[in-house]
Amino acid sequence: MQALANLNGQQMPLAEVKIPALDRGFLFGDAVYEVLRVYQGRPWLADEHFERLARSLQAIRIQGVDVVRLRRRMLETITAGRFQEATVYIQITRGAAARSHSFPAQATPLELLYVQEFDDPYRSARLTGGAVSTQPDSRWDRCDIKSTNLLANVLAMQAAKEHDCVEALFCLPDGALTEGTHTSFFGVLEGAVLTAPNSNAILPGITRGLLLKLAASAKIPVREQVLKRSALGSVSELFLTGTTSEILPIIRVDDQTIGNGKPGPITRRLQDAYQQAVADYLRS
Ligand code: PDD
Repeated sequence: MQALANLNGQQMPLAEVKIPALDRGFLFGDAVYEVLRVYQGRPWLADEHFERLARSLQAIRIQGVDVVRLRRRMLETITAGRFQEATVYIQITRGAAARSHSFPAQATPLELLYVQEFDDPYRSARLTGGAVSTQPDSRWDRCDIKSTNLLANVLAMQAAKEHDCVEALFCLPDGALTEGTHTSFFGVLEGAVLTAPNSNAILPGITRGLLLKLAASAKIPVREQVLKRSALGSVSELFLTGTTSEILPIIRVDDQTIGNGKPGPITRRLQDAYQQAVADYLRS
């Protein structure tokens, strides 16, 4: 099935989308984005994703984007392409104008979304667990904005891939493990789930938010606290969360095995709770 796009309100095959060379998303990374998962033809956690998109737009001062209209376009595109297991990518840029760093006096934001079939690359790692590689967190100090400036993430992920890892874990100079290049990061210490508190150092992950609710419902204690590299010897489990990865057990960090080298019981319980939450949504 071919990927289907909507560019500024016009539906077309993704392969036919053309973006102006002077678009500021292309020139400056002056843009924000979202990625949603579609299960059985229905977008998952859409309210949360569109709220975060509105926050990102506000944070970089792009005005005049109707997110309700965007959401309608997304639903129309999913229906038109009869997508079942899919992802939606949405990107809003400040638009095209003569190249100059400050905001152009006149530019209309470019609104692109596309839907494509999802061939799950995490299926086996979700069962067996995966390895991650720590990489210096050299990003800017507004990682809470879902901006398309992803060069640090790209370079870190490439380094991780070259070490046969499923993800890179960003590490600050003080040893704080913030998040993955496209995932949120969690540990289990003495039976409690630990994850960094939301701040400008991490993206407020939508799956992270759901995970915290699932843990609370399952009466698993949660502490929003940064995990340091030096604490990895004490944790019994690690996992990542993300829109496409869902809940992904981590069994090795660089050369260090985590716990007994297998996905742990709390991770498994949370994976089951996630599947149940999706099933409940699809029945609703
Ligand atoms: N990435 N942290 C970062 C830096 C991310 O880019 C993402 C998402 C997450 C997880 O957030 P969520 O649960 O809302 O997907 C955490 C998307 C999927 C991407 O760039 O493809």
